[in-house]
Amino acid sequence: MAAPGVWLLSRLPLCAQTRSLVRCPALRRLSCAGTLAADFRREEQPSGSAETGCKDKTPMKTFSEVQDGRREQAQRTVLIQCPNKISEKKFLKYLSQHGPIHSHFFYESFGLYAVVEFCQKDSIDSLLNGTQIPTVGTEAVIPFRSRFFSLKLKSPSGHITEKSPVQPSNQLPPSSKKLSELLCSAESVADQLTTLLKEFQLTEENTRLRYLTCSLIEDVAAAYFPGCTVRLFGSSVNTFGKLGCDLDIFLDLEETRKLGTHKSMGNFWMEFQVKSVPSERIAAQKILSVIGECLDHFGPGCVGIHKILNARCPLVRFSHQASGFQCDLTANNRIALKSSELLYIYGTMDWRVRALVFGVRCWARVHSLTSGIPGAWITNFSLTAMVIFFLQIRSPPILPSLDALKTLAGTEDKCIIEGNNCTFIRDLNKIKPSENTETVELLLKEFFEYFGNFAFNKNSISIRQGREQNKPDSSPLHIQNPFETSLNISKNIPVSDPCTPLEPYGDECHAVCFLVRTFLMMPCLPLPLPSH
Ligand code: GTP
Ligand code: MG
Repeated sequence: MAAPGVWLLSRLPLCAQTRSLVRCPALRRLSCAGTLAADFRREEQPSGSAETGCKDKTPMKTFSEVQDGRREQAQRTVLIQCPNKISEKKFLKYLSQHGPIHSHFFYESFGLYAVVEFCQKDSIDSLLNGTQIPTVGTEAVIPFRSRFFSLKLKSPSGHITEKSPVQPSNQLPPSSKKLSELLCSAESVADQLTTLLKEFQLTEENTRLRYLTCSLIEDVAAAYFPGCTVRLFGSSVNTFGKLGCDLDIFLDLEETRKLGTHKSMGNFWMEFQVKSVPSERIAAQKILSVIGECLDHFGPGCVGIHKILNARCPLVRFSHQASGFQCDLTANNRIALKSSELLYIYGTMDWRVRALVFGVRCWARVHSLTSGIPGAWITNFSLTAMVIFFLQIRSPPILPSLDALKTLAGTEDKCIIEGNNCTFIRDLNKIKPSENTETVELLLKEFFEYFGNFAFNKNSISIRQGREQNKPDSSPLHIQNPFETSLNISKNIPVSDPCTPLEPYGDECHAVCFLVRTFLMMPCLPLPLPSH
């Protein structure tokens, strides 16, 4: 008979959340010897990866090194909408006139697209120079030049006879049916968790597309702020991304502030004439407002722009049609980037971390504890923090506390953001692997046991200290923000409606009650689950 856990996972309808990539993905098409791609695969290979069996002793790159490499790669890359029937060989030959191609792949998203990475950046200039602005019937066209192109066939019938049609890479998570089949054929809960990870994690191609989209947005923002950087953060880069997850990006003007060496000769120095506003928040609102307008009017493929400027963290939300990503653009979000780096370290240290996070997130989604719509739900970010915390309190610990990572930090790691100490060791190679050998299956069970009995009414979850803390306020679920320690990352969860008490947790919020009940229920499945 299957263990209860097996039963649970195999009945997951796994509504199309996301899926993310196996850490050793095969690049679909590598047009010239692909050393870079191999490097990236290694960089993003979680250490001691039992699931892939890779025993690579190559030093692991830091989060910044990975990001810089990916950004540079994206800057040599273009996005091309292609005719549906296309000869791959002729396509590559045509593009090669602008310079050697490093790698490419095709994907489908309401049409066929190609992502083409050139070996040199100069090739992009050549391509831009050899591309014309279209004329569209009687409509006026805004002559905006970008790295998002359309390839047109001179004689549409000429390419249809191609013997080897292109093979688009898949950018979507598996269907519920396919996933159910995979989970049912898995031999153990551990096997199921590995399956979830393999099927949902970001693929190499999807990661490239994410960095490319970010780079295309950066080009638009650079029209206002030359030298600015648009950075990816959140699950696209923190190792917990699943296919279909949103694209969290922020406009980083730090470099713009620092650009230009400060030359003071004699009695003088020079400053730019600038406008000032009463606060950083207002500055962010103004900047995002104009970039939102610009994306709306000129950004190729950017649709459904919503400016949500009065939010706690002002943002512009839009869809990038060609990639299919929903994008959240913020400004000045360096702490969130630091959180992503911390999560990247935790996710890369031990493969069990990602396996458990994927499993728990998937379970939470299936039980409607999380939602794709922002609201009074527990977030994936909070769930990830809960898993990390749980792994910090194992004996021996699987993950070190943030304070322990701070103790290991050198002077080069020092980082203060807006007065918050965000220092921790960034070189993964200097962190001693855990001696804990517990299986993921056991850990999953213990996770539910632990939180099923957690005193949510009294205690706070702190990944900074790696132990339970007294709750500083009456919020129903308190997960301390690791960097802004007076804040609660699950503050969005409201206190319950007193008219509908949920005994025995009458004083707690609905979401936490549900969470606790569901956690408690976990070991004794299959019990009917309460409706939300
Ligand atoms: P997905 O659900 O897969 O998108 O996970 P995510 O980690 O990307 O979450 P989300 O898109 O909601 O947020 C993006 C990033 O913003 C997170 O990874 C965190 O770094 C940060 N973040 C989100 N919510 C909070 C919060 O409540 N407090 C703080 N400090 N940071 C947050
Ligand atoms: Mg996100």
